[in-house]
Amino acid sequence: MKILPIENLRGVIEIPGDKSISHRSIIFSSLADTPVEIENFLRGADCLSTVECMKSFGADIEIDGEKVLVKGNGLHGLREPENVLDAGNSGTTLRLLLGLAAPQNFITTFTGDSSLRKRPMGRVIKPLSEMGASIVGRNENKNLPITVIGNGHLQAENSKLKAIIYQMPVASAQVKSAIILAGLYANGVTTIIEPAPSRDHTEKMLSAFGARIEKFGNTVKVYPAESLTAPKKITVPNDISSAAYWIVLAAVTKNSAVTLKNVGVNQTRTGILDVLKEMGAQIELENLRESGGELSADITVTSSKLRGVEIGGAIIPRLIDEVPALAVAAAFCEGTTVIHDVGELRVKESDRLQAIADSSIKFRQAVLKLRRRI
Ligand code: S3P
Repeated sequence: MKILPIENLRGVIEIPGDKSISHRSIIFSSLADTPVEIENFLRGADCLSTVECMKSFGADIEIDGEKVLVKGNGLHGLREPENVLDAGNSGTTLRLLLGLAAPQNFITTFTGDSSLRKRPMGRVIKPLSEMGASIVGRNENKNLPITVIGNGHLQAENSKLKAIIYQMPVASAQVKSAIILAGLYANGVTTIIEPAPSRDHTEKMLSAFGARIEKFGNTVKVYPAESLTAPKKITVPNDISSAAYWIVLAAVTKNSAVTLKNVGVNQTRTGILDVLKEMGAQIELENLRESGGELSADITVTSSKLRGVEIGGAIIPRLIDEVPALAVAAAFCEGTTVIHDVGELRVKESDRLQAIADSSIKFRQAVLKLRRRI
């Protein structure tokens, strides 16, 4: 394959569906009493791991092109998987489903690929254990394989998980979502306090399913639920994390203007836009619309001269997956960019900080070559 360099970038791009929302659409639809159609579902390997796991819990899931039809058995209708559940490479699948498995009246064992087996799971096991769940994992309950001995919430009132107040040491939507899912089956109101708000797709979608979830600043309160009332249809917006690469490319390439259609612009995910604007990028949002509590818009980026910025603190969870793309933008900025508080990137699918540092030398050479051309 031959790839020719471009002078500038112009046009309209439709990127794939949001990964975080796709996972949640499958899990929550599988907990509903009525069928749900999911549109623009991301058929990537991670979301397909979630599909397989939910099928093992008894959901009927049919994938037909970009449409998915989910027929669940209700909030209290999951069945015991016959085999070990494989979350593949997907932290979101594993962590959310640990929270879902904890209150069930059966046993679930999870595993995953070699990367997921190294990733820290103590952060989910700890709060779920405080709720009374019985969970055992390799390496002192920190790593996969992990077995959850479900609490048997249907058998007796005192076998329900305990509602707790949990102060999370790190902002993590996966951990928060696991506690929220467990909290739906708990014996009272569960309270979660994050150091800074992480993405809130779980809160938004479960609220659209009729669950009572309250949010005040960094605090989320989850009320126990008897059942979930699903919308007939969920439309997944396009993924701002995939859009990020095009947004950066258009911002740093001379004489460029790109429109990305129907991108999810949930406020807990748009840190990348805020930082790029602070760097001097020209970014416009049009056709703002809402579906199932999620905002989406068409994003137009026009190239401009960028300057280095310093970021850290509460904005980090709002752009955690976009730091590699921001590092590319930073390489084109005048002045130095400093990004603090991103230690979490060391425990993603790979050590993303190391990966950014490793590619920076090759990248610098490529940038210099490109600059000579344009
Ligand atoms: C995700 C949450 C984030 C993010 C991941 C997807 C989610 O992880 O990095 O790509 O869908 O909840 P953490 O919860 O570990 O921060």
